[in-house]
Amino acid sequence: MSASGKLRSMDTRHHLIRLLADGHFHSGEALAQRFGVSRAAVWKQVQGLSGLLDMEVHAVRGRGYRLARPLELLDPETIRSALPAATCARLSALEVHTSIDSTNSHLMRAAVEGAPSGQVCLAEQQTTGRGRRGRHWVSPFGSNIYLSILWRYPQAPMELSGLSLAAGLATVRALAAQGVQGVGLKWPNDVLWQGKKLAGLLLEVSGESGGPSQVVLGLGLNTRLSARQGEAIEQPWVDLASVPGGQGISRNALAAALLEQLLAALAGFHHQGLSPLLDEWNRNDLYRGKRVQLRMGERVVEGIHRGIDGSGALLLDSGDGVHAFHAGEVSLRANDAA
Ligand code: BTN
Repeated sequence: MSASGKLRSMDTRHHLIRLLADGHFHSGEALAQRFGVSRAAVWKQVQGLSGLLDMEVHAVRGRGYRLARPLELLDPETIRSALPAATCARLSALEVHTSIDSTNSHLMRAAVEGAPSGQVCLAEQQTTGRGRRGRHWVSPFGSNIYLSILWRYPQAPMELSGLSLAAGLATVRALAAQGVQGVGLKWPNDVLWQGKKLAGLLLEVSGESGGPSQVVLGLGLNTRLSARQGEAIEQPWVDLASVPGGQGISRNALAAALLEQLLAALAGFHHQGLSPLLDEWNRNDLYRGKRVQLRMGERVVEGIHRGIDGSGALLLDSGDGVHAFHAGEVSLRANDAA
């Protein structure tokens, strides 16, 4: 491959981002020397960065290039050093990828190869990030958290029905520990602020009908998303930078806080299930006590949201008694949505 071909490659582009991430000026000459290409080739590559990062790249004659604001990239050592000993004991591996198809897909492949419980995968960018119900998860480079954990259980997959709710609560706990205010849950595991989605969880469970089973827990959390990047999201959304207490949180510190809570939730669920978390879950449920609609394909049920039960089912009081539902999409009734 020619030198400029090399510079065009994605790896080199990511290398360039790592150099510029500090937000300081880097001269075109120094960058050209580093990559062994012409200054014109560097200029061409830098032009492509503003689209990838959705950020202006300042080019100043005599000084070089710098990003409009510094980027805090994820670093496995920084994350590890922020973890308490109990979390480290639960962690079997911590990978940070620059770009990946999907952190969940990656760990599902690893699971088939026999990867152990406690393997964690984070990425700066997902090319085919996946959400629930076959949706795409918008996953631009260098902002947001894309995190997956592989966990193995002796139980049957059926017995893990409340796990995704435990994971949602763990996410809210981690955010609260970082000083984020006013964030809550929407059944089964969306994390919202003022009715807008801040984070979502995708749990992919597989195994033998009588156990054992394995789960890949995937969390996507918007830390910073521009209006342009958010255009592809099909529902109201928000990023952490717009939430009270959410500005200026270190992505590495946030990743560590999330790992601490999520790994504890995964480990605790094996012994205790959802029961010890019910009160706290119900307290954090933003729709409890409200009139909601539950959509299950074509079928829509309306009623007062009465919280959740020990299996993680949604309890709806639809006038003829309280019924438990295990799947569906909850929304506030249109004229009740504040
Ligand atoms: C949802 O639709 O609410 C769930 C979104 C889950 C997105 C995360 S990002 C990390 C992990 N990898 C994926 O492809 N999806 C999950």
